[in-house]
Amino acid sequence: MAVLLAGAAQVAPLDLIIDTDPGADDVVALLLAMASAEELNIRAITTVAGNVRLDKTSRNARLAREWGGREEIPVYAGAARPLLRSPVYAENVHGGEGLPGVAVHEPAQGLAEGSAVQYLVDTLSTAESHSITLAILGPQTNLALALIRAPAILRGIKEVVVMGGAHVNAGNITPVAEFNLYADAEAAEVVLSSGVKLTYLPLDVTHKVLTSDARLAQLAAVNNQASRRVVDILNAYIKADMQRYGMPGGPVHDASVIAYLIKPSLFSGRRVELQVDRRAGMTYGQTLVNEYTSTEQPGNVVWIEEADAQGVFDLLSTRLACLK
Ligand code: RIB
Ligand code: CA
Repeated sequence: MAVLLAGAAQVAPLDLIIDTDPGADDVVALLLAMASAEELNIRAITTVAGNVRLDKTSRNARLAREWGGREEIPVYAGAARPLLRSPVYAENVHGGEGLPGVAVHEPAQGLAEGSAVQYLVDTLSTAESHSITLAILGPQTNLALALIRAPAILRGIKEVVVMGGAHVNAGNITPVAEFNLYADAEAAEVVLSSGVKLTYLPLDVTHKVLTSDARLAQLAAVNNQASRRVVDILNAYIKADMQRYGMPGGPVHDASVIAYLIKPSLFSGRRVELQVDRRAGMTYGQTLVNEYTSTEQPGNVVWIEEADAQGVFDLLSTRLACLK
C-alpha cells in the first residue's frame, strides 16, 4: 500500500473558496484561513445548511469574517436543504445558534447578492483552467448543485478538499457515518462521480488532532480576542465528542482541512477507492474505502490518515496571533 506524503507546500497563494456550515469548528477553520493570507487567497465564503439551519450558518460565517477582520471577503448563502434526503442538523453539538461558548450578534456586513450555487457556477466556469481550490467543511450540497447545473465548471477546479467520512474510525452521527456525509450522501456522490481531484480528511485523521489542556493553554496564551474566542468556542464544543468517545480531547475537524491547505507536510495519506453508501437505513452516508488499489485502479480520492497534531496546534496558535 503506497503511502503518499501530502502535497508539497505551494509557492503562490491558493485561490480558495471555503464552503461551510458554521458550526464551532468551522469558525475556528475560517479564522485560521483568514489569518493566512500568504498561503490562501480566499475568494469567497459560501454557506450551506448543516450543523444548523442556513440562516444561522450564514450569520455565523459573517460573524467569523467580522472577527477575522476580513470584511472584503464576500459571503454567499447556498443550499437550505440537502439534494434529496430530509434535513438533519447537529444543534445538540453546536448549540441552537450554531456557535457555542460565545455571544453572537447580527454582523454589520451583510450577505453578497445572489446564491452560493450561482456564484460557484459563474466563478468556476470563467476561472483559468484548474485554478481554484474548494475547501468543503460541511455537506457537499452547494458544489453538487453547481456541478449538476453546469458540469463544465469542473475545468475551473484545481482540487476539492473535504472534511468528511470515516473508515477505520466509527461514525459520529450513526455507528458508521460521519455527519457531513450523512447530511447529504447524494451530494457527496455527485462530487465523487464528477471526477474532480478530491482529497478527504475523514474522522480517521481529525480524531488524531485533538485538543488537550496544554494545547488549549497554548491557544489561550496568544491572549488576543481571536484566541480567547477560539478557546471559549472549543471548551464548549469538545464536550460532546469527549463524552461520546471517551476521548482525552476534542477534534477540531474543519481547522484540520485549512491546516492541510496551509502546510500539507503536516499530513499524510494515500489514494484509495471511495464509495458512498446512499441506501436508506443504517448504512446511509457510510464511506466505503477500498485501500487495495493498483496501477490499473489507482483510486479516486486521496484519503488523509495521519497528522502531526502538535504541528496543527502550533500553526493555529501562530496564526491566531496575527488576528486582533
Ligand atoms: O463530522 C464533523 C463535521 O460535521 C464538521 O465539519 C462539523 O462542523 C460538522 O459539519
Ligand atoms: Ca463543518
